[in-house]
Amino acid sequence: MEPLNPSSSDLPSPKEETVRIREMNIDDFPKVFHIGEEIFTAEYSQSLYRTWDEYEITTLFNSDNELCLVAETGGKILGFALGTTVEKHNSPWKYGYLVWLGVRTDIQQAGVGSELFKEIKRRMKEQGVRIIMIDTSANNQAAIRFFHKQGFGDIQAHVYMTLNLARKKKKTVRRKKT
Ligand SMILES: CC(C)(COP(=O)(O)OP(=O)(O)OC[C@H]1O[C@@H](n2cnc3c(N)ncnc32)[C@H](O)[C@@H]1OP(=O)(O)O)[C@@H](O)C(=O)NCCC(=O)NCCS
Repeated sequence: MEPLNPSSSDLPSPKEETVRIREMNIDDFPKVFHIGEEIFTAEYSQSLYRTWDEYEITTLFNSDNELCLVAETGGKILGFALGTTVEKHNSPWKYGYLVWLGVRTDIQQAGVGSELFKEIKRRMKEQGVRIIMIDTSANNQAAIRFFHKQGFGDIQAHVYMTLNLARKKKKTVRRKKT
């Protein structure tokens, strides 16, 4: 079995060797999963709304395998883009949702993410998508800069709140009316 985290010296530089972007297949699932585990840690995803697990890969693959891509060089997976399309009742437009985009930490900032994005954008356009959506945490500056560079704008803030149902409610003291 291939080592899951070979050192960066095992990898040809994507700038030196051609990076191939292709559709993900089931043999890629474990590699994609482990790259995601390395990148999408608990620190990355503080809200439970976005947590990385194996179902993310299988669910997106089942719903739209044409939008599940990997970047590969010399037989090694460097990163992945997993997306889907969304149609809303009250809108004639088709939306593309790029759910997960990840590049191995040892090969980031070498153009792999841009190549993956270019291809998923091309495929979404071919499927009739008018607008692509992404979401990430507000403090993920690398991703925000990356998406800005790809032409994204119109950042909208979103608030998450939690309610702990296991915590006992404090007794409220009612004042007597005088
Ligand atoms: C975001 C991510 C996919 C970018 O992939 P990448 O292969 O490193 O990106 P590229 O090399 O194609 O970078 C393109 C541009 O994005 C910006 N960028 C990328 N990484 C950056 C970083 N760490 N800091 C600042 N800007 C960055 C730069 O503007 C860069 O252009 P430049 O090289 O000319 O300066 C990658 O950093 C990653 O996997 N991050 C962790 C997971 C994540 O946050 N995913 C996005 C939300 S699902």
